[in-house]
Amino acid sequence: MSKDCFPHTRLRRLRKTETLRQLMRETSVSTSDLIYPIFVEEGIDAPQPISSMPGVSRIPEKNLAAEIKAIQADGIKAVMMFGVSHKKDATGSDSWKSDGLLSRMIKRAKDAAPELMIISDTCFCEYTDHGHCGVVDGGHVHNDMTITNLAKQAVIAVQAGADMIAPSAMMDGQVAAIRQGLDDAGFIDTPIMAYSSKFASSFYGPFRAAAGCDLKGDRKAYQMDSMNSREALRESLLDEAEGADILMVKPGIAYLDVLAKLRERTLLPLAMYQVSGEYAMIKFAAAAGAIDEKRVVRETIGAMKRAGADLIITYFARDIAREGF
Ligand code: PBG
Repeated sequence: MSKDCFPHTRLRRLRKTETLRQLMRETSVSTSDLIYPIFVEEGIDAPQPISSMPGVSRIPEKNLAAEIKAIQADGIKAVMMFGVSHKKDATGSDSWKSDGLLSRMIKRAKDAAPELMIISDTCFCEYTDHGHCGVVDGGHVHNDMTITNLAKQAVIAVQAGADMIAPSAMMDGQVAAIRQGLDDAGFIDTPIMAYSSKFASSFYGPFRAAAGCDLKGDRKAYQMDSMNSREALRESLLDEAEGADILMVKPGIAYLDVLAKLRERTLLPLAMYQVSGEYAMIKFAAAAGAIDEKRVVRETIGAMKRAGADLIITYFARDIAREGF
């Protein structure tokens, strides 16, 4: 019998007390690893609770400054901003107007909390009347027209005060187009966090209610097939080659294998998005008394960290900032 085996080796020795367990812990999560998503709606007077996301509301544009200050006071370091537009059209043009919702909300947030990192989700589904993430042409989202518009939106966002651009439309070449657009406008120092391996997922259901983007059809012609991981690696590595500064895998819990494989293949920082459906599952299961919310949050976000995420975008970020991990 090898000396490396029982009874000489007893892994339980290092699990005996909480102090020992803390000393041995391989993974930690702190609020500075977390990004908090927020929804800002124009033309409303009171916060609109999102019934499928208990605890999350659309913030009225006029309350944004106060809300942003409160978020910062809780300890949050970075927010991902989504606009809920009342001025939708075929191309989502409000999002690249200097007086449009996207520009106004970023300005307000930046003015209210200059130290808070403002990340702009760069996409069109919240701003188009058909709900797709770009310009629809002949029944399909037109890739090259859409990336031109994405670059315009990114420049407007940075002009308004965004610290980081997060393209989420899953168009080919979007990172290169945005990098070029930002560089041409003089924003050479603004990083891009690419939603690089973004899957066509049923876990986005509650988000679509939250962001007011009713879609007829689906996004399978641009978001990835959930059965594919080699293709996901190609997507992420292409975004790296196009100049992305941070790569992302989205959703979270069902795609940890993709994140772990990507971690082995790139030196870039990696983000994972714990999306609306993941949040809803935990909230509703906890409300039904089936699970302990705080512990499950810790376990799921801990898993993302363990699998290789440096950053986690999560609707639980504010609770964690307030109550600890
Ligand atoms: C696109 C975008 C979506 C999400 C983040 N950015 C929606 C989609 O791709 O359909 C989903 C996030 C979530 O479900 O929490 N702008």
